[in-house]
Amino acid sequence: MRFFITVLVLGATDLVNGHPDLAKKLAEAARAQDKLATRSTALLGDLLHTVESALTVTGFEIKSILNGTRSAFADAATYDPPPKDSDDCRRDTCCIWQYIANDMVDAFYEGEECSALARGAIRLGFHDAGAWSSDLSFGGADGSILLSNEMLRSENAGLEGIASQMFQWKEEYEAYNVSMADMIQFGAMVATTACPGGPRIRFFVGREDSTRAAPTGLMPSPFQTAEALIDLFQAKTFTGADLIALVGAHSVSQQFFVDQKQAGASQDTTAGIWDNNFYTETVDPETPSGVFKFPSDLNLASSPETSSTWNQFTGPAGQDNWSRAYAPAYFRMSLLGVNNINALTDCTKTLPPTRAIPRRR
Ligand code: HEM
Ligand SMILES: *[C@@H]1O[C@H](CO)[C@@H](O)[C@H](O)[C@H]1NC(C)=O
Ligand SMILES: *[C@@H]1O[C@H](CO)[C@@H](O)[C@H](O)[C@H]1NC(C)=O
Ligand SMILES: *[C@@H]1O[C@H](CO)[C@@H](O)[C@H](O)[C@H]1NC(C)=O
Repeated sequence: MRFFITVLVLGATDLVNGHPDLAKKLAEAARAQDKLATRSTALLGDLLHTVESALTVTGFEIKSILNGTRSAFADAATYDPPPKDSDDCRRDTCCIWQYIANDMVDAFYEGEECSALARGAIRLGFHDAGAWSSDLSFGGADGSILLSNEMLRSENAGLEGIASQMFQWKEEYEAYNVSMADMIQFGAMVATTACPGGPRIRFFVGREDSTRAAPTGLMPSPFQTAEALIDLFQAKTFTGADLIALVGAHSVSQQFFVDQKQAGASQDTTAGIWDNNFYTETVDPETPSGVFKFPSDLNLASSPETSSTWNQFTGPAGQDNWSRAYAPAYFRMSLLGVNNINALTDCTKTLPPTRAIPRRR
């Protein structure tokens, strides 16, 4: 039963759009289930204390995505912006983001794969936003990873390249009043679409920057047990199933610091492609050369609390199951610690289209 409901909830978002009764039933079913087996529907930031009648169009939309009644996937809409320095561009909050997206795509896609900078951008988005927990009144997606001394922490080793690229973009777009926090989360979204197979996840701008470093101890270590990781992510409003979906980002990762003798080893055999080989290969007892499996990923794959979700993301049906779970989970990530959600602006249309996974060469 638990397995059945999990699958239903993971795949339900598109079905329930426009069907409030069904949505309500599903949400009730989700709440009745073991929290670990379903996606989180917790609200965040100012949405926790904003009454329904005070929600803006954006606030309503984001609340609906967080509570699982609307999809976190971007629709196909794209946008042709007015010239960069025109008055029309200045009047449209999203305009400048289209120019930033174009620059990012150049850096994030090469040789039919997503680049090292793209991997860095996806990880940077997690390390800025994820340094947060629901009992804190600061931290989260606030730019502090680059605006405080957080980059000196060992958990951020390897992010130097994308950090300096972000500073460069920030400087280039200084006159356009974009926050570092938005730049970092936009980078993660654009980078995900640059990886063939990666989902296009809705993006809103208007996050406020902070120079205050997040407390230490909020990021996971590759040596933690599944139980410790589940607790750590639960304090960030994620369920165990959300965590399993999120670590799938290791489909496009490489490690340099966990085992320095294997620097450059990836976590699956297709590091530039956003495919679910990561899940399939992690549970395979064999480890191909050039692949390094993190103990944390092995722990999550085999823990009784998370292995059933893990297995749903393996094999041929796994790609779609994973994508449907990853999009809302990363959407949530991109808003951790944001306390002006009701005042954000929807700039989803500035995201590049998704890329198909190339046929096996
Ligand atoms: C259980 C939680 C997690 C742990 C323990 C973990 C740990 C790590 C470690 C140790 C590395 C390699 C760093 C190095 O040695 O160079 C890494 C890389 C990476 N991680 Fe995670 N991670 C976790 C969750 C996530 C999440 C939630 C995301 C994004 C949504 C993510 C995205 C990435 C990416 C994209 C890389 C590759 C970076 C690159 O190739 O430059 N990770 N992670
Ligand atoms: C989700 O949020 C929307 C927007 O506030 C609200 O109208 C809807 O009732 C909520 N649904 C659930 C199941 O919480
Ligand atoms: C810059 O952005 C901030 C946050 O979005 C906003 O409050 C402020 O009014 C903007 N300033 C200008 C000059 O547009
Ligand atoms: C993945 O999704 C499909 C279609 O929704 C579902 O039938 C299947 O049970 C899910 N899990 C696995 C392990 O394939």
